[in-house]
Amino acid sequence: MLLKIPTILSKNQVQQCRERLYATAWIDGDITAGYQSSKTKNNLQLPEESEACRQLGDTILEALAIHDLFISAALPLKIFPPLFNCYQSGQAFGAHIDNAIRRVPRTPVKVRTDISMTLFLTDPDKYDGGELIIEDTYGSHKVKLAAGDMVLYPSTSLHHVTPVTRGHRLASFFWLQSLVASGEKRRLLFDMDRTIQSLRTHIGDSSEIIQLTGLYHNLLRHWSHT
Ligand code: NI
Repeated sequence: MLLKIPTILSKNQVQQCRERLYATAWIDGDITAGYQSSKTKNNLQLPEESEACRQLGDTILEALAIHDLFISAALPLKIFPPLFNCYQSGQAFGAHIDNAIRRVPRTPVKVRTDISMTLFLTDPDKYDGGELIIEDTYGSHKVKLAAGDMVLYPSTSLHHVTPVTRGHRLASFFWLQSLVASGEKRRLLFDMDRTIQSLRTHIGDSSEIIQLTGLYHNLLRHWSHT
């Protein structure tokens, strides 16, 4: 499931984030690429051990921790600390699938990448190109979102970033391991949860909604791994 979530960060937060990013030194983006993808990756990246990377990443994680739509769609178990990149002057990232397992730096924690996320930090009218193109069974999806908005998509998807031919494109990118490994099962749980929430809004709590909520949790108990 490909899902676009608006306003993970407010305009104010995005502005503060950008100012911090402008004031920090960047390195070649090859650093987090696997062997295969390093051949096609051409961008800049914030050093992951830098103070700016940790603090800005925490801002994003705090926003996600209280975001109902994100939690419902992703059912996060472990989130890899957010990274930041910049594309400019024709930089691009060729077609690839993200590495399956990522170890959180300086820890023994391994994260299986079930879901990939990109949080856009530059408004789309400020640069040309830089579309994130994601392939799925329904074809090719072009994603270029407002600053502060995020897309999440299955890490099993082939994807690439088209060359940025004017301006620059700042973004945060990261991955998570879900409580539910199967994308199909996550989709069923997401649809069920959203339907229950909508019913609750329209008709209030009823014994049927309590039963449906119980069913949701029993399915989650059945399908989740911690
Ligand atoms: Ni990727």
